[in-house]
Amino acid sequence: MTDQRPFITLITGADKGLGFETAKGVGAAGHHVLVGARNAQKGAAAVATLRTLGITADAVQLDVTDHEQIVAAADRIRSQFGYLSVLVNNAGIAVDHHQPASQLALDLARQDMAVNYFGLVDVTQVMLPLLKATHRAKIVNVTSNMGSLGLATDPTSQFFHVNSLGYQASKAAANFATIAFAKELASTGITVNSVNPGWTATGFGGRDVTQAAPAGMQDVATGAAQIIKMTLDDSGATGTFTENAGPLPW
Ligand SMILES: NC(=O)c1ccc[n+]([C@@H]2O[C@H](COP(=O)([O-])OP(=O)(O)OC[C@H]3O[C@@H](n4cnc5c(N)ncnc54)[C@H](OP(=O)(O)O)[C@@H]3O)[C@@H](O)[C@H]2O)c1
Repeated sequence: MTDQRPFITLITGADKGLGFETAKGVGAAGHHVLVGARNAQKGAAAVATLRTLGITADAVQLDVTDHEQIVAAADRIRSQFGYLSVLVNNAGIAVDHHQPASQLALDLARQDMAVNYFGLVDVTQVMLPLLKATHRAKIVNVTSNMGSLGLATDPTSQFFHVNSLGYQASKAAANFATIAFAKELASTGITVNSVNPGWTATGFGGRDVTQAAPAGMQDVATGAAQIIKMTLDDSGATGTFTENAGPLPW
């Protein structure tokens, strides 16, 4: 029997950037959006803006590196809704800045891993019982072409010349989480997919958003398009890694 209940979608790091744009897109499609934000005030402000657009949304305080906060968020979703339809693991940071691998401070690499990989896995593990409480659940992991081992080792790819071990390793690890969860959850019907938004004009990595975007950097609506598409996708596709232009090599 089809689940007729409303879609409840949690997006981590949704107070700004690609997460907020995704909230707008899936909210406009009728999902009730749970805006994950580590800063409660920023989360509330994002929700207020979404509501002015006619989107139903609530803020959920969620630092993905804080296990107790993740559990508290899941408890709240359980008591308020009883299930979760979609988890978009979007929160991410890049605190290393292309230092050569030999000079990368391990503390920076650990920070990237803590948010982009361990945070993603922790949130996924804690939210899984809620996702299993509806039969059409999805997990969308926002990773990066920077985490593609295939592109990094392809001499014809522009990513062959990119060397940013902390961030790249964290996104490659996040892609592996997609593969591992997709395999484990295949029999449950829960789909798990990675999406590369592409180089997008947000404040990511400390970029000053008041400055004009450099040539080649796409706007945030273009960056969020594939995330939104995979969040709304009902094809049953799982274990994929895609961007607007199509599939990417792992
Ligand atoms: N922009 C790009 O060119 C690009 C390219 C490829 C992939 N991506 C990926 O896209 C995702 C979104 O990036 P963006 O461009 O939208 O960057 P952004 O504007 O900097 O947004 C990042 C979001 O993640 C949140 N965040 C950071 N650390 C967190 C934590 N510990 N717990 C919870 N939330 C946390 C931020 O919260 P605060 O507001 O509190 O800082 C913010 O909401 C990231 O995973 C990034 O790796 C971006």
